[in-house]
Amino acid sequence: MNRVNTSPILRIDAAGKTYFNNQGVPVPALMPVTAQIAEAEFVSFVGPSGCGKTTLLKMAAGLITPSEGAITYAATGTPIRPGHYGFVFQGAALLPWRTVLENVMLPAVILGLPLHAARERARQLLELVHLGRAASSYPNQLSGGMQQRASIARALLHDPTVLFMDEPFGALDAMTREQLNMELQRISVDQKKTVLFVTHDIEEAVLLSDRVFVFTRGPGQLAQTLEVAIPRPRVVSDRAHPDFLRIVAQIRTLLDRGDTRVEEHA
Ligand SMILES: Nc1ncnc2c1ncn2[C@@H]1O[C@H](COP(=O)(O)OP(=O)(O)OP(=O)(O)O)[C@@H](O)[C@H]1O
Ligand SMILES: [Mg+2]
Repeated sequence: MNRVNTSPILRIDAAGKTYFNNQGVPVPALMPVTAQIAEAEFVSFVGPSGCGKTTLLKMAAGLITPSEGAITYAATGTPIRPGHYGFVFQGAALLPWRTVLENVMLPAVILGLPLHAARERARQLLELVHLGRAASSYPNQLSGGMQQRASIARALLHDPTVLFMDEPFGALDAMTREQLNMELQRISVDQKKTVLFVTHDIEEAVLLSDRVFVFTRGPGQLAQTLEVAIPRPRVVSDRAHPDFLRIVAQIRTLLDRGDTRVEEHA
């Protein structure tokens, strides 16, 4: 996409985070980050464990408050509100006592939206993620990949403009992961969602993203943002594209230079 002419949807303005441990000692987790995320942009965060990726994602969603700086939703100039985003947590985080359909309807319950319409939309979204026949199953009757699909449907229920996804496919085998990558891409491109996506998998990040934010440890710092100019939607064979290979190598070098180790999935 051409971001130059696209207005920002999120403004990350010198946002940093220091936690306090049980003894009240400050633990800097993320050095101030400044960036703008464009409408319909797909941005990935990669970096070693503990570098502050989840912290930044949760700050962007307004789930935790930055210790310094601010992250605002451009339309309002305030932190984004729950009605405008969906959050896919690491591990599908479905409620085991609710059916798949009821899990997907959850945002409507939380946001107080009309349930009849929400049920209709939940059914459509389950079709979209190829889970139409699992609507009345319980989460423990689903495979890991199916659970992740359900949690993506749930995040889309209230038609949010922004999707926050924290290692959504981390626990999946390579084939399921690739399939879900392509499904996520289809949904995000077709529905023009803005996606902020955390992953430990460099290739996954490069395949899906307009830009990849590379973080290094000690405490976490945004080392560089890399643009992936290969047109979206991408196809699996874009993994052999010279730009793809160059950017993957560039990210590896950045992470090595930062004396960090990225845990990749086999
Ligand atoms: N609630 C908290 N209280 C204190 N320290 C925290 C808290 N949450 C995170 N941290 C610390 O902040 C740092 C960044 O954590 P964060 O979870 O953002 O990293 P991450 O990049 O998402 O790591 P991973 O890849 O393992 O998920 C870590 O050192 C972590 O121990
Ligand atoms: Mg994390």
